[in-house]
Amino acid sequence: MPTAPKGVRGAVITGWGSALPPRVITNDELSQTLDTSDEWIRERSGIHERHIGGTTAGLSVISGAAALAMAGLDPRHIDALVLSTTTPDRCVPATSATVQHALGLSCGAFDVNAACSGFVYALTVAHGLIAMGSSKVLVIGTDTLSRITDWSDRNTAVLFADGSGAVVLEAVDGPGQMLSWDIDADGSAEESLYAELGGFIQMEGKDVFRKAVRIMVDSATKSLAVAGLTADDVDVVIPHQANIRIIQAACERLGIPMEKASTDLHYTGNTSSASIPLALVDAADTGKIKKGDTVLLVGFGAGMTAASALIVWGGQ
Ligand code: ACO
Repeated sequence: MPTAPKGVRGAVITGWGSALPPRVITNDELSQTLDTSDEWIRERSGIHERHIGGTTAGLSVISGAAALAMAGLDPRHIDALVLSTTTPDRCVPATSATVQHALGLSCGAFDVNAACSGFVYALTVAHGLIAMGSSKVLVIGTDTLSRITDWSDRNTAVLFADGSGAVVLEAVDGPGQMLSWDIDADGSAEESLYAELGGFIQMEGKDVFRKAVRIMVDSATKSLAVAGLTADDVDVVIPHQANIRIIQAACERLGIPMEKASTDLHYTGNTSSASIPLALVDAADTGKIKKGDTVLLVGFGAGMTAASALIVWGGQ
């Protein structure tokens, strides 16, 4: 298990932003065309409504520009763009290239695809870039899952949605915010959740549910162990927003009270790569996260992947 090396250049988040498409689809609207109900969707997933529309590049530009503005940075001073997405606008080039140009960046840009764990993968990579000499990195998580969702399939259509969240990461003197991180993958579980090129998401819901709880708990436990912390040391959890019952089960097994979890899935649905940054931005904007808090980011996704990171908000 890799540990965060001592003495490398640290980083902190200095700006953040988000984007949700304006079109809202309520559970009641879905139940007009699907054999489902508002009551079933709320009880089984915690989702009340979701936002649909736009492109991955378009949403990324909105959240990325907001994060840059908050950090007070000239786009030309960004050293790298890392875009986490499972739904690129094209096979080639990477959507990050489109976003790089639209934001007026003049730096390297690449996509990361680790499904709903992708933002934590991207954030980890961005810390690595800063440790190796970059000064300012823009990290964006965006998905437009509505484009790969079969809207006549009630197993998936009630869950998935679109959105984007972004953070600016800047180098600091000293250790920065990252205490520990973990990235995992188990490719043997590929068939539990996949979409063929040009096809729709296929999902074994119950199987994913079971595995999700286990791998989220495993990943978070590894990050806690590397940081030398226990569940009691965690002030805020930012979990992947797939299903409120998955979040409850994972928190219970980790021994973290549910009140410490930031949740926004009731109005966002599952936005995959955007899920963790959207919940992070929501928590930061509403004051749920305060300077000095120990924050656990933890997600799981198709692959199946899992990832977690422990950060100190504002830096150590
Ligand atoms: N509306 C109404 N009834 C439904 C619906 C629906 N949308 N979907 C299923 N049902 C029915 C089933 O047919 C079943 O009926 P039966 O009892 O007569 O057989 C009943 O409701 C219960 O179905 P289950 O599948 O047992 O429901 P469950 O409690 O497992 O909830 C759900 C289903 C919400 C899909 C859950 O399993 C889940 O959230 N799984 C994880 C999915 C997930 O997180 N995916 C994203 C991964 S991240 C990424 O990479 C994108």
